[in-house]
Amino acid sequence: VTHTIRVEPIGAEIPCREDQTVLDACLREGVWLPHACTHGTCGTCKAQILDGEVDLGDASPYALLESERDDGAALICVAQPRSDLVVEGEVDVDEGVGVHPVRDFRGRVDSLDEVAPDVRRLVLALDRPMMFNPGQYVLLDVPGGHQRPYSIASTPSNGKVIELHLKRSDNGVATDGWVFSTLDVGHEITLSGPYGRFSFRPLRTQPILLLGSGTGLAPLKSMVRHIDENGGGHHVTLYHGVPTEAGLYDREFFEDLEARSDWFTYRPALSRDDWNGRSGRVPALLAEDYPRAGGHVAYICGSPDMVADTMKALMKARLFPRDIYREDFFDSA
Ligand code: FES
Repeated sequence: VTHTIRVEPIGAEIPCREDQTVLDACLREGVWLPHACTHGTCGTCKAQILDGEVDLGDASPYALLESERDDGAALICVAQPRSDLVVEGEVDVDEGVGVHPVRDFRGRVDSLDEVAPDVRRLVLALDRPMMFNPGQYVLLDVPGGHQRPYSIASTPSNGKVIELHLKRSDNGVATDGWVFSTLDVGHEITLSGPYGRFSFRPLRTQPILLLGSGTGLAPLKSMVRHIDENGGGHHVTLYHGVPTEAGLYDREFFEDLEARSDWFTYRPALSRDDWNGRSGRVPALLAEDYPRAGGHVAYICGSPDMVADTMKALMKARLFPRDIYREDFFDSA
């Protein structure tokens, strides 16, 4: 059964099957609505259902309160139509950021390497190019009918090759049960994308702070490479925080880029070990280096704790939320 969704205020009319989420239908038609976790927990995709019936799906009671449900709100990443709908969404696209419809892809594992303890780099060759913005993510289909989000570390200039960084988690169905055990070069994978609002803003010309921990490096690496491919033009400082020196994957890549460019600075940091570089968590080092951060634009990607603490450090240094973009890495297991 297919229903029609009208998205206000733009008036777009979109077909949506009963077994499809409202968000999925919109993204596939190129109507970009805010979203982050895509599984009903963060609340980013909250929208008002002005008319029609929805099944609210697996919306977390914390992300969608009882009173909001009564008022006709829904988390459209999990809500499915039960009739034609009129949805009011926040169709907010930033200047210079492209909107790329979500598509399904088939990919073949081109390489799979352990690049740091418990971190693997997965490179997929896709059946056709994916258009995306540096910073966005894909959903991989995982054996057993699950899907997992992973940020893209490669750039849109070659959309047929997608690089992902995966961190192992104990007993995780996607990592322990698959990418770190049975998955191998040559295997076929299905995926969809691109997703997410964490996108590089090319028209914002202020100096850029890229702040990542662990595999939160992936979308930041895509941004750095994208800027490099376009001849620099932005002043970029990248912080990468990990516990131990062995965790500083892609260090050589960033050191080489720093040596050959006049626009890029690499600041690796160890949160656990002492070494001949800097030790401490990214938020603490940031506070040390930038007592005043106004005039920058910042992109943060890491665990929810790291993101929250880094936000605090930046705001204390007088950087306003409108100049800060963030991506929380929910535990992908
Ligand atoms: Fe997170 Fe829908 S609740 S995107």
